[in-house]
Amino acid sequence: MLSSHYPFKLPPLPYAYDALEPHIDAETMHIHHDIMFKKYVDNLNAVLRANPIYQDWSLYDLLAYNDDFNEEVGTAIRNNGGGVFNHYLYFDGMTPEKNEPTGQLKTAVIRDFGSFDNLCACMKAAALTQFGSGYAWLMFDGTSKLRIVKTPNQDPPPLLILQPILLVDVWEHAYFLKYKQERDKYFDAWCSLIDWNKASKRFTAG
Ligand SMILES: [Fe+2]
Repeated sequence: MLSSHYPFKLPPLPYAYDALEPHIDAETMHIHHDIMFKKYVDNLNAVLRANPIYQDWSLYDLLAYNDDFNEEVGTAIRNNGGGVFNHYLYFDGMTPEKNEPTGQLKTAVIRDFGSFDNLCACMKAAALTQFGSGYAWLMFDGTSKLRIVKTPNQDPPPLLILQPILLVDVWEHAYFLKYKQERDKYFDAWCSLIDWNKASKRFTAG
C-alpha cells in the first residue's frame, strides 16, 4: 500500500470484521473500514485525478514530500493521503491472534522503555493527551532510538525523520460506539490486539 500509487484501492481487512470482538465491535469495524477508510481512498483518488502530475507518486512520497506542493493541493493530499496511510497501518497493525514481541524490536523496547508495560504506558499517555482527533505512534529514528509521537487530524508522521512501527487511532469514530468517551479503555483494548509480528517486520525493514 505504501509504495502503491494512483488509482488507490481500499485494502481488505486482514481479518474478519468481528475477529477483534469483544475489544473492537464489528459495527465499528464496518463503519471505520468500509465507510471512513474508503472515503479517504476515494477522496485521494479525486485529488489526484485533478492533478495528474502526481499520479505516479507513491503514497509514501506524496506524504513525505508534501511540503513541496502548493498549499491547496498539499493540504488535500495530506488530509486524504494521511487518512489512507494512517488507516492502512492501523488496521494492518492489529490481530486476533495474540502474539508476543520478539527479536530486535523486543531488544529495542527493553533498551528504550525498560519493559513493554512501560512502552504501553508511554503510548497511552500520548494517546490520552492528543487533543481532539489524531494518532499516537511508536516510531524509530532509524539508527538509535524508539520514540513516541502524537499527530493531529490525519496528518502523517514525520516520515523523513522517523519510521512508523505501530499506531493507535484515537479519533472518536474508532471507539465511540463501544467505549463512548472512555478513550483509556479503548486504548487498553487496542494494546491487547497489537500485531507484534508485523511491528517487528516494520522495525527490521527500516
Ligand atoms: Fe480512523
